[in-house]
Amino acid sequence: MKNEHLNHPTYQVDDADRSPAMSRRAALTSGMFGAAAAATGMVTARAAMAQEAPQGELSGKTAFITGGARGIGLASAEEFAKAGANIMLFDIASGSMPNVSYALPTASDLAAAQARIEGLGVQCMTYQVDVRNLEDQQAAMQQAVDRFGSLDIVLANAGVGHAGAFDSVTAGEISTLYEVNVGGYIKTTQAAVPHLRAAGGGRIVYISSGLSRTGNGVFGVYGATKWAVNGIAKSAAMAYGRDNIMCNVVAPGLVRTPFADNEAVLGVILPDASNPTFDDVSAAIASGSTLGIGHHEVEDIAKAVMFFVGEASRQMTGEVMDVSYGDAARNLA
Ligand SMILES: NC(=O)c1ccc[n+]([C@@H]2O[C@H](COP(=O)([O-])OP(=O)(O)OC[C@H]3O[C@@H](n4cnc5c(N)ncnc54)[C@H](O)[C@@H]3O)[C@@H](O)[C@H]2O)c1
Repeated sequence: MKNEHLNHPTYQVDDADRSPAMSRRAALTSGMFGAAAAATGMVTARAAMAQEAPQGELSGKTAFITGGARGIGLASAEEFAKAGANIMLFDIASGSMPNVSYALPTASDLAAAQARIEGLGVQCMTYQVDVRNLEDQQAAMQQAVDRFGSLDIVLANAGVGHAGAFDSVTAGEISTLYEVNVGGYIKTTQAAVPHLRAAGGGRIVYISSGLSRTGNGVFGVYGATKWAVNGIAKSAAMAYGRDNIMCNVVAPGLVRTPFADNEAVLGVILPDASNPTFDDVSAAIASGSTLGIGHHEVEDIAKAVMFFVGEASRQMTGEVMDVSYGDAARNLA
C-alpha cells in the first residue's frame, strides 16, 4: 500500500508536549517506523494550526469514525469537531473495492477530510486501512489514545452498498457486504470496548439504514446486513450497559452521497426511467413520503448522530433512531 500520508510534513511537536507517546508518533510520521506503519496502515497526525480549538460539549473527548473520508462519516466528524472533540478518521480510501460497483474515496480525499476537520480548530489523525481487519482497528484506536489521551466516542459507519434482487447477487458480493457491514461493525465494537471501559464509559453509534426496518425486493442482501447492525447495537447495549457504554443506532433513509448517487442504486429504484438522476429518485420518493421530501443531506444524519454522543442521551442505549423523511410513521412498532 502506498504511504503518501507519511509525507505530510506538518506534524508539530513542541518540547513541552514531547511525551514518550508523542515522540513515538513523531517518529512514525517522520519515517523511523515507516515500514511498520506501511504494514499496518497509514497514520497521520498534524497539530491543528488553523484556529483556537472550539470549546463545546465534546471538548477533551476523542472520537473515532470509520468511513470518515466522506459522506455521513465526515459530516458527523465535523459535528463532533465543532463541539470540540479531537478526531481520528479511519477509512480504506482505496478508490475502489472488489465486489463494489461505485467509486470509493481516495487517499487524497482522506487528506482533504483531515484538512477540513483541522480547519475547525481541533486535532485530526487519519488511518487508511480496512474495517475488515481487527488488528488495524485496534492499532488505530491505540494511536488515537496515545495521542489524545482517551477514546470516548466511536462511530461505526464504514459500509458498502449493493443494488439488485437476491437472484442477481454474486457470492463475492454477499461476502463483501457481510464482511464490511457486519464483520466490520463487530470488529469496531471489539476494538473500542476496552478503551471506552478505560475511559469510564462512552458512546458507540452505529449507522444502519431505513432498509433495516422493512423488507425490500431490490436491496435484500444489503438490507439484511443493516438488520444485523441493529442487532449488533442492541446486543452491545446489553453487554456493555454496566460499563456505561451507550450503544445506539441511526437509521437513515436515502442520503445524498456517492454511496446512493450512482447508476446501480438509482437504476433499481427507478427501473423504468432512462438514466435517472439522484434528484429524479428523490422526487419519486417525496411523492409518497410522510414529509413530502425524498432524501436527506449528510448534515441531517450527523445531527442525529450528535444527539447520541451528547449529554441529552446519556441514559439511552439500544435505541434505533430513524431519519427517513417520516418513514418511521409507517413502521409497525
Ligand atoms: N447514503 C445513503 O443513502 C445511506 C442510507 C442509509 C444508510 N447508509 C449507510 O451510511 C454509512 C455511510 O454511507 P455514506 O452514504 O456516507 O457512503 P460513502 O460511500 O460516501 O462513505 C462510506 C465510507 O466508508 C468507507 N469504507 C467502505 N468500506 C470500508 C472498509 N472496508 N474499511 C474502511 N472504510 C471503508 C468508504 O471509503 C467511504 O469513505 C454506510 O454504512 C451506509 O450503509 C447510507
